[in-house]
Amino acid sequence: MIEKVHHIAIAVRNLEEQARFYREQLGLTVREIQEVPSEGVRIAFIPCGETLIELVEPLSPDHTVARFIEKRGEGLHHICLQTPNIRSALATLKERGCTLLSEEPKPGADGLIAFVHPKSSGGVLVELVEPPAWREGGSA
Ligand code: CO
Repeated sequence: MIEKVHHIAIAVRNLEEQARFYREQLGLTVREIQEVPSEGVRIAFIPCGETLIELVEPLSPDHTVARFIEKRGEGLHHICLQTPNIRSALATLKERGCTLLSEEPKPGADGLIAFVHPKSSGGVLVELVEPPAWREGGSA
């Protein structure tokens, strides 16, 4: 049902500032910063082997990520697991007693996405993603 960790998302107040650690100290490549107004965030992907690290900066103080930072500080926001079939994965999780944040997947930056409620996953917000078919299993 689950193929790999697709990305790990980190909530930050200032993307440029936090990106420096990954670029200058870890020596990773930080991809171009994208503003995603529909989601109310700016993001930057940092490829790390088969997985991506995603820095997420909220664009307004009332965004859920901004409220997360206010409450818990900057840091790990969610992990995203890749599945070949998100509808079937959601149905299986529901059958197994998981609470989902939404029953229907929605289009995300890299395919269809949906979230599992952290109360079902030990306090970690878990996102599922089904990458578009043309990607042929490779990551973004
Ligand atoms: Co994500």
